[in-house]
Amino acid sequence: MAKPKVYVTRIIPQAGLDMVHAFCEAEVWEGETPPPREVLLEKVRGLDGLLSLLTDTIDAELMDTAGPQLKVIANYAVGYDNIDVAAATARGILVTNTPGVLTDTTADFAFTLLMAAARRVVEAMDYVRAGKWLTWGPTLLLGRDVHHATLGIIGMGRIGQGMARRAQGFDMRVLYYDPYCRREKGAEFGAECVDLDTLLAESDFVSVHVPLTPETHHMIGAEQFKRMKPTAILINSARGPIVDPDALYEALKNGDIAYAALDVTEPEPLPADHKLLTLPNIIVCPHIASASIATRTKMATMAAENLIAGLKGERPPNLVNPEVLESK
Ligand code: GLV
Ligand code: GLV
Repeated sequence: MAKPKVYVTRIIPQAGLDMVHAFCEAEVWEGETPPPREVLLEKVRGLDGLLSLLTDTIDAELMDTAGPQLKVIANYAVGYDNIDVAAATARGILVTNTPGVLTDTTADFAFTLLMAAARRVVEAMDYVRAGKWLTWGPTLLLGRDVHHATLGIIGMGRIGQGMARRAQGFDMRVLYYDPYCRREKGAEFGAECVDLDTLLAESDFVSVHVPLTPETHHMIGAEQFKRMKPTAILINSARGPIVDPDALYEALKNGDIAYAALDVTEPEPLPADHKLLTLPNIIVCPHIASASIATRTKMATMAAENLIAGLKGERPPNLVNPEVLESK
């Protein structure tokens, strides 16, 4: 039997590629940046499976261009806002993601951003590099305490819970708001479920952990910044467009909040001449929260397993749209 045809939209860690090559006739886009739209539309023709990244827009047009034999789209990410899942479901295409493996790695990084912003680590490094370090200074680069401060977690999914667990070790008070108010989830970490306004008003650190959906798009905007403490620090390691970047710029500039630490931005990548980067009170990282060697390797084998299971007509371990199987 001919091997199923698949396209992999970027070089992923070798362990995953090896699995894909063993089972499939696979072509891999080897560019450092994502395949351009025209290339992707050309490459998907006649595919049985696609291994995509969060940087690829996988919409109805692309699915139709691929053709009715397309069985599975395996996303190399926990988030799948880049895929039109409803369109895939309507066409009987399985969509999978890589949840779980990156939870602790991403929570580690969100906590890293929190601490780096609180203690101004990036500014401090810039200061040393610039040759400004003359002596020990009583008021040099004063930051804010993390221990015993209040952390507000927006979205108590796996990663939000990971943040709550880490916060316990720093004796923080933890509040959370969850659109689905998973009350039982917070209780085990001594976290308190509150409404969004209370969380914004009472938190020293606000950390975003919801997926990007039409409901969460710009859910943190001008109105929300006004409710926050002027000393508050915003952390976003979820998806850029959850935070309105123009409102964030104004809030940081006008002192409505003190600091922001972002691993995700709108747009992404954030151009080097973007106005946010002119501010002193911001840290921006290039979407690396899940980027540990071990986790990115696990994500690769997981995406490959999902892809292969889908191609074999089995239920992929991390199926986003189980309705596809139920309707068969
Ligand atoms: C990374 O942002 C992911 O969704 O896995
Ligand atoms: C992702 O793993 C989440 O549920 O936060």
